[in-house]
Amino acid sequence: MSDGPNYSTALRPVPIAQEARCCYNRGMDDLQTELDVWPGLADVEYFARAQAGGWGDMLRAFARFIDLPPGGTVLDVGAGPGLLPRLLVKGGARLAVGCDDSLAMVRRAVELARPDRSSETCQISLAADALRLPFADAAFDAALATNLLFLLPDPAAGWLALARVVRPGGIVACLNPSEAMCVSAAAAFMDARGVGGFGRFSFVNYARLAEAHHRLPVDAWLALARDAGLIDLRAETRAGELVLFVRGAKS
Ligand SMILES: C[S@@+](CC[C@H](N)C(=O)[O-])C[C@H]1O[C@@H](n2cnc3c(N)ncnc32)[C@H](O)[C@@H]1O
Repeated sequence: MSDGPNYSTALRPVPIAQEARCCYNRGMDDLQTELDVWPGLADVEYFARAQAGGWGDMLRAFARFIDLPPGGTVLDVGAGPGLLPRLLVKGGARLAVGCDDSLAMVRRAVELARPDRSSETCQISLAADALRLPFADAAFDAALATNLLFLLPDPAAGWLALARVVRPGGIVACLNPSEAMCVSAAAAFMDARGVGGFGRFSFVNYARLAEAHHRLPVDAWLALARDAGLIDLRAETRAGELVLFVRGAKS
């Protein structure tokens, strides 16, 4: 491959150091204690079901927002069961890498990604911590994180980690709950649309998680992106302004 990253050097999986997990990991062990669990569904299946339902539509909207040029290479950090990398490969990415610090999530992402051997595209799932990404600087055309940065103790470090692995001119984008996200607003949004069952349950649960973590104003997210060296910033909201998309280009 003459253009784009050299896969063998860019993709160097390294073991996640135990101390890094202790410091930075807000993975499933933590989330499980904070999330109510839908009866009969355990962690990974909870997220797989969310991505297969209404949350999947949100990730499709985010993929359109990113607008990755065809043939690009992209990293999705905190990919969970991996819907977004699958969508991006379907949408024309040459390489989509999903990483997550939960091995169970990575295993499920691998199961859900059915390799298409006739295709030129490539999809990879691997275990990695967001703040210790095992990739060379400037390895990708784009790096993304949906519903991850707001969970990190220091979201600024998340932006910096994403920006590091993107080439100059490449795209860095994040999806997070907006400042307005809260349990009552999420419930009202779902009720106004007549959404019940798991869709409502998981969106309200998401709001509960947001209330316990970072709910930054849009200007604060934009400032963090700017501090990470991003330019041409754009922000959009979805779901009645409860979900915030931010993207920028690496200078
Ligand atoms: C709320 S889920 C979002 C999953 C997916 N991005 C989505 O929007 O559907 C957060 C994901 O980030 C992963 N995660 C949490 N902390 C992480 C970290 N420090 N590094 C990598 N992944 C992390 C969790 O295991 C989980 O799969």
